[in-house]
Parts: sequence; C-alpha cells; structure tokens
Amino acid sequence: MTFDRSIKIAPSILSADFANFGQEIQCVEAEGADWIHVDVMDGHFVPNITFGPPLCAAIRPHIKTVMDVHLMISPVDPYLEAFARAGADVITAHLEAGPHVHRSLQAIRGLGCKAGLALNPGTGIEDLDYLLDMVDLICVMTVNPGFGGQKFIHSQIEKVKNLRKMIGDRPIHIEIDGGITPETAPLMAAAGADVLVAGSAVFKGGSVANPTPYGDNIRAIRAAAAAV
Ligand code: DX5
Ligand code: ZN
Repeated sequence: MTFDRSIKIAPSILSADFANFGQEIQCVEAEGADWIHVDVMDGHFVPNITFGPPLCAAIRPHIKTVMDVHLMISPVDPYLEAFARAGADVITAHLEAGPHVHRSLQAIRGLGCKAGLALNPGTGIEDLDYLLDMVDLICVMTVNPGFGGQKFIHSQIEKVKNLRKMIGDRPIHIEIDGGITPETAPLMAAAGADVLVAGSAVFKGGSVANPTPYGDNIRAIRAAAAAV
C-alpha cells in the first residue's frame, strides 16, 4: 500500500447481500471502489453483531484492492493476530475499546498491517498527541457505530479540520465512516479527509445481477468530493 491523499471510496459490505459477499465485492471493485471496508461488530462494544476472522479470510481472495477491517469490538488485542492472518491490510481499533490502545497499535504494526485508530463522535482529538507516530489511519466516526444507514453528525466536520491540522505532513489517512452521501462527502473532503466509507449510499438500487447503480453511486460520491 502506497500513501497518497487522493480521495478513496471504500464501500462497506455491511450494506451488501450477506449471502453473497464474494460477488458483491467483485461488483463494487469492478464499478470503481478503491478499498473494501469490513465492519466487525461484537454485540458488546456496539449493539450489533456481524462477523469475525473466518469470514474475513473467506472474502480475502475476492478483494483485489485494500481490505480495510474496522474492529468495533472490545477487547481487541486477543483477536488482532487472527484478523492479520485473515489478510487484513488495515486493522482499525477504537480508542474507546480499552485502556491500552498504544499496545494495540504497536501489535497491529507488529503483525505487518497498517494501524488505524477510530474515534466515536463523542471522543475528542486531544488524546492523540502520543499516538500520532503510531498510526497510519485515523477513522472519524460520523455516526455512532453499530448500524448502517444512520444520519451524518455534522459536529464532526470541525473535528476533522482540527485533526487535519494536527496531522501536518505525517503520512496518515483520514477516514470518515457513517452517513457519507454525495451531499456529505464534499464537506469531509474540504475538511481534509481522503478515505470515504459508504455503505447504504453505494449499495442502494443495485445488486450483483444489476451492478451498474453501484458504479453510478460511487461516481456520484467521488464527483461531489472532487468538486470542493
Ligand atoms: C457503522 C459502520 C459503517 C457503516 C456505514 O457502525 O462502521 O461502516 O457501514 O454505513 P452508512 O454509509 O450506511 O452510514
Ligand atoms: Zn466502519
């Protein structure tokens, strides 16, 4: 994975057909997805349950781009090796998931993956000073994690602007997750984000039998973000 700040659209398979992940991934990649975002939920850190390392390993051969694994689980450390073995390129842990996020980030890089750190909407950036040199990506949640299709929280725009200043020249991606649409994408691109996760806004209207809407949706988000 090489670093650049160009806009990347990362469809979340949380909004895909759960009975057909392999083909859904092939379709969104063929239709222009830059990364594939994989939402792992444990029913404890967030009020929903999705899937774990075996599912990640099963879909890995279908991903030609970047496998971006978002862990909404607590504890996180006991499972990091399994997600790395499953083929994750990026593993993102939440700042709120436990008291030892420094250790988790070290472990993720130690496993040969890019280390991501996610912040819930209620979490500020003031605790990041001593973590910035340990992360490759910071994910700003623009919804409370747990479900797709929620409403974008506008207060996070200011957070992203301040985070962008704080990061300076460091090679750290700013990823936005939740409520991204052609309406909200430009707000985040202007604030300094480069990875835009989108679930419902990418998968709406399409299917593996009719994937053209996926491409239309991805292009609409990308064009809106590029227009800032
Ligand atoms: C929320 C997940 C998101 C979610 C985004 O907990 O982390 O990745 O799938 O879905 P939309 O784009 O529908 O808000
Ligand atoms: Zn996510």
